[in-house]
Amino acid sequence: MNTQEQAIASTVAKLQSLFGPAPEVAVVLGSGWAGAVSHVERAQSLPYTDLPAFPQPKVEGHVNEIVVGQIGAQRVVMLRGRAHTYESGDCTGMAGALRSLKRWGVKVLLQTNASGSLRAHTPPGSLMLIADHINAPQRSPLIGEPGSERFVDMSTAYDAELRGHAKKVAQAQNLKLGEGVYVWALGPQFETPAEIRMFAAWGADAVGMSTVPETILARHAGLRVMGIALMTNMAAGLSAEALTHALTLQQAQASGESAAKFLAQVIAGLAELPSLRA
Ligand code: HPA
Repeated sequence: MNTQEQAIASTVAKLQSLFGPAPEVAVVLGSGWAGAVSHVERAQSLPYTDLPAFPQPKVEGHVNEIVVGQIGAQRVVMLRGRAHTYESGDCTGMAGALRSLKRWGVKVLLQTNASGSLRAHTPPGSLMLIADHINAPQRSPLIGEPGSERFVDMSTAYDAELRGHAKKVAQAQNLKLGEGVYVWALGPQFETPAEIRMFAAWGADAVGMSTVPETILARHAGLRVMGIALMTNMAAGLSAEALTHALTLQQAQASGESAAKFLAQVIAGLAELPSLRA
């Protein structure tokens, strides 16, 4: 066994012994989404430091722990904090965590993030369902993986049935939910206006510094993926405001409560999805 295998094995053993069988649904909470934790009933938390395959990220605004519990009838594990590629240059930071979740028995990875909007019809505060992504840095967390499984089909990376479910929940709540393409920018610097014009011409609707490596890792592991982006700002050059991390956190907090409520409703509704009960 290599060291990642050992870390995964002991992480899964720990999760199993503390929490029993895996919830079907795991959620990565991005900036602004922390409020979702308050919707978890019978919540039990565990720091990443107790889970050897999990990362120890250090970005402001993140707490590094998992929260296990349920929302309505749906059991869930929430990940508060992710490793970002801009922290180290390494885009495999979430590999051990995601592989552990899959090994434990999780079926769905629901990703959330804060993004810059490239479109006037999704101003700050809007939610966008991720229909597809663009891996602009063309970096892969699967470099060096053995076997033919590394040639992962990305043509349906964001699960159509799960997206349909999220749209139904939004409709029932009278909530406007856009759908579009997320482009990954490496960061940590924000984009230039010229880069944003290029991304827009490519067909991107939202830009952010996360999510894409995790989607690739999750598809490789065999997890179904859904993603929701919370627009915290207009992307560079699209508004007069200068971009700062503090501004994105502040705007994430301003709309975070309604985003978290919507997320909780999406999760609760997953309890009625037949394909998750099989
Ligand atoms: N660019 C990249 N990442 C981001 C942005 C942005 O404008 N807003 C929030 N995360």
